[in-house]
Amino acid sequence: MSHDHRHFHERLESQDDQSINPSANPPLAELIDPARRNVLKGGLTLAALGFFGGGLSACAKASASPLLGFKGVPVQLDPGFDRVLVAEGYRAVPFFSWGDPVESGAPVWKADASDDWQAQLKQAGDNHDGMNFFPFEGETDRGLLVMNHEYINPPLHPSGTIDLSKPRPLDEVRKEQAAHGVSVIEVKKGKDGQWQRVMESPYNRRITMLTPMRIAGPLAGHALMKTASDPAGLEVLGTLNNCATGVTPWGTFLTCEENWPNYFINRDPADYTQRVSHKRYGLSNSGTSKYYAWETADARFDATPAADQPHGGHVNEPNRFGWVVEIDPFDPKAQPIKRTAFGRFSRECAALSLGGDGRMAFYSGDDAKGEYVYKFVPTGRFDAANPKVSRDLLDEGTLYAARFDADGNGHWLALVHGQNGLTEENGFASQAEVLVNARAAADRAGATPMDRPEWAAVHPTSREVYVTLTNNDGRGSKQPVDKANPRPNNLHGQILRIAEQGADPTATAFTWELFLLAGEAKGAKDKDGKPVPANLVGTIQGDLFSSPDGLAFDAQGRLWIQTDFDDAEAAMHNMGCNMLLCADPATREVRRFLVGPRGCEITGLAWSPDGKALWANIQHPGLSYPASDGKTRPRSTTVLITKEDGGVIGG
Ligand code: FEO
Ligand code: CA
Ligand code: CA
Ligand code: CA
Repeated sequence: MSHDHRHFHERLESQDDQSINPSANPPLAELIDPARRNVLKGGLTLAALGFFGGGLSACAKASASPLLGFKGVPVQLDPGFDRVLVAEGYRAVPFFSWGDPVESGAPVWKADASDDWQAQLKQAGDNHDGMNFFPFEGETDRGLLVMNHEYINPPLHPSGTIDLSKPRPLDEVRKEQAAHGVSVIEVKKGKDGQWQRVMESPYNRRITMLTPMRIAGPLAGHALMKTASDPAGLEVLGTLNNCATGVTPWGTFLTCEENWPNYFINRDPADYTQRVSHKRYGLSNSGTSKYYAWETADARFDATPAADQPHGGHVNEPNRFGWVVEIDPFDPKAQPIKRTAFGRFSRECAALSLGGDGRMAFYSGDDAKGEYVYKFVPTGRFDAANPKVSRDLLDEGTLYAARFDADGNGHWLALVHGQNGLTEENGFASQAEVLVNARAAADRAGATPMDRPEWAAVHPTSREVYVTLTNNDGRGSKQPVDKANPRPNNLHGQILRIAEQGADPTATAFTWELFLLAGEAKGAKDKDGKPVPANLVGTIQGDLFSSPDGLAFDAQGRLWIQTDFDDAEAAMHNMGCNMLLCADPATREVRRFLVGPRGCEITGLAWSPDGKALWANIQHPGLSYPASDGKTRPRSTTVLITKEDGGVIGG
């Protein structure tokens, strides 16, 4: 079973990151202002030195960082490694696994996976991903842990397989839909000082692919959102492929819909070719939808236009995914809200930057090869004196895509109808068209195609924005190499650092540099003892890793990095299993804090208010974690990490 599971996961991953950006935005060299180039030659600034890949500091001896107070752990090369290894003086225990009861009346998980879809609706979903902790007002020892369940793995079913060669049984599809979405669980610190779940809490809640949600913002009620089952275009069932997250200043959770195109199909070749909202996102147009063939049991996922049905049947259903969904964890009755002003793409996250005056920006990656980095700037400002009134601020604002110039400057390009070529003659009849087709709008505006943008994280005091670019084996062939994406066949990825002009979240100009290039150490050897090729060598000072994905700052300004690479891939032979690392943004030193079981990626992290508990997610473990007995089916699991002396994590 575990072998089927591994292959299935790898198949999904290779579809996640397809390169379908057809735009030929000019190589950065053509965008450089020649005058600037001279300035750059004449006097290198510190920032400019940094952006050439670590610059001088890469050669400097790694200093002992005052921020990193733990001893790094070694890579785990054993193909049978089936547990979580954490730094000395810490412990990591399974806290919340797929199938654990969430809502009242949920049955206890059955090891043969025989729970039906009605049970799954009340149990923890699969593939735990982005996660945040929300303390109860005025309390530090009690809160709500809210997390995404991104997709599903074949061990969801008793057979341990998913057969895409015949129509899917509806009860299997429903169980898969029920295992998607979000979990809200109440947690509290017990008398022994350890965090535990509150099993009977009115806040414990599952949100799934079947939960009704309201469409808000510019697309609410728009013709592009109307379907045969929702002729008003105001309510959609469910959220899917919820990857990373964001939080608002008013204490709500933002969940982001990533690889939604892989759940739909449009079988009409003529329609598909001209329908930007399908083709530019890579919907399937033959066979089955790319992931689970739900359309064979649930007609909503067949987006082939149906002339005999109102609103073309379900042709607009894919337009209703790819958004930011706002959930109020403290109001279990409140409907989740899809906020369409954020624009539609394979959104990884929505990381908040909040200025002292209430100005806001939310940063997002679009995770596919050659896609873009975005930010959404609400028009209004957050009013701390009146926080609840602020939430509809998410319905009005400006979506921008980033252009990274070769000289270390950058520009946010407004995706606004009538600006940057987003006109009717270029295929954008209105702002609604711009938002639904945000990728095409960013193509037209001239954004820089990136190496699969994943998470963004904002430094708690400087407001510098860090972005993971996980990897891109199409760089150098599908997209030209440039300064921000400097390595052809980039298997290891990089982390960018962006400084907004004046540290203003709403600025339209920024400077940027490469914080680090992940990958092998200089002089590293491959399996046959030959030097690894130059494109696989990075600039990491400290412990090595590949494919940065999850990224977050703790309150003290430590940068935590989570990895997602295929640990069966030969090129990863020096990297072992996926891991959680910690970096000092000032010295760039990186230290490995935790290594997960074989087959998993590490994703999602959240802290208790005192910084003494850290939750992290072990997504799609490949062997038998968390039972780790060599026979129980593996389960995605949140682990709770504490320091044995009760101290702050990482310090
Ligand atoms: Fe859901 Fe791009 O990771
Ligand atoms: Ca990710
Ligand atoms: Ca990833
Ligand atoms: Ca992944």
